[in-house]
Amino acid sequence: MTVANEKIMAEVIEGLQEPQRRLSCKYFYDKRGSELFEQICRLEEYYLTRCEMSIMTDNIEEISSVMGENCVLVELGSGSTKKIRVLLDSLKSPVAHVPVDISSKFLMLEADELRRDYPNLIVYPVATDYTKDFTVPEITEDPHHTVIYYPGSSIGNFTPEFSRRLLSRLAGASGKGSGLLVGVDLKKQRDILEAAYNDKKGVTAEFNLNMLRHLNSLLGCRFDLSGFEHHAFYNEREGRIEMYLNSTKDQEVQVNNTCLNFTKGEGILTEYSYKYSIGEFHDLVSGIYRPEACWTDPEDNFSVQYLSVV
Ligand code: AVJ
Repeated sequence: MTVANEKIMAEVIEGLQEPQRRLSCKYFYDKRGSELFEQICRLEEYYLTRCEMSIMTDNIEEISSVMGENCVLVELGSGSTKKIRVLLDSLKSPVAHVPVDISSKFLMLEADELRRDYPNLIVYPVATDYTKDFTVPEITEDPHHTVIYYPGSSIGNFTPEFSRRLLSRLAGASGKGSGLLVGVDLKKQRDILEAAYNDKKGVTAEFNLNMLRHLNSLLGCRFDLSGFEHHAFYNEREGRIEMYLNSTKDQEVQVNNTCLNFTKGEGILTEYSYKYSIGEFHDLVSGIYRPEACWTDPEDNFSVQYLSVV
């Protein structure tokens, strides 16, 4: 096993032995997982992607105007180039695009496409885990300011405490006059939220279970996929969707040299997806970012917010 995979193995075993067994949501995204996520984004029930895209296109002039001229766009967890293109097509003389993602394969492909279509743009992909050590690469072009673009409500994966620390680090790395354009999913009726994570076609269930398949092939774990089932619900007190893989029977799972005993109904936590009211999100970033503008869809399902570094 490679050194990197040994590190993952240690992390996986550690999480699975905690009182609430857990696996990090970053293990969703192997090739199949990324494809399943793309499918989720097109689901009837999964309003997030559709709402965010329509907010972007409906307000693009205002959005690019608050972002200003000569900005260096740092996009976190890039993925598909659809949203960034809407921005690049409308921004006034953008200086550079810095897509940041864990997976370097996808990043390089994306960078090539963007270089081809935007010949005046500096495209500077960075393959790193932005939740760990992250610095904005030095762009010498003058003048410019940095705007961190954090779409998709990916910030919802983290606890509010961690999100605040992350955003504080990002603000520190981007400097005065810089901003944050962030997609934040909003609190709403339970049935709408729960449907988005329990779609009728079972794509989200497949996405959740695929994490076990991924770990089986990556690390040689012996998860029996038929022995676990998808479970997702809205925890209103905490303001978050919680996603689990529940054991359908008493079973032993061999992970490396560790044997884990699951009882029937016992769950592995695989993801949190926090939801905020607009005010709650502003409180979360207070002292770090100043809210400048906020756009929502007509149903107030989703928000896109622009904030500037305090
Ligand atoms: C990519 C974290 C925004 O929380 O809605 C979709 C991931 N999980 N369906 C979300 C996800 C289940 C998604 N984020």
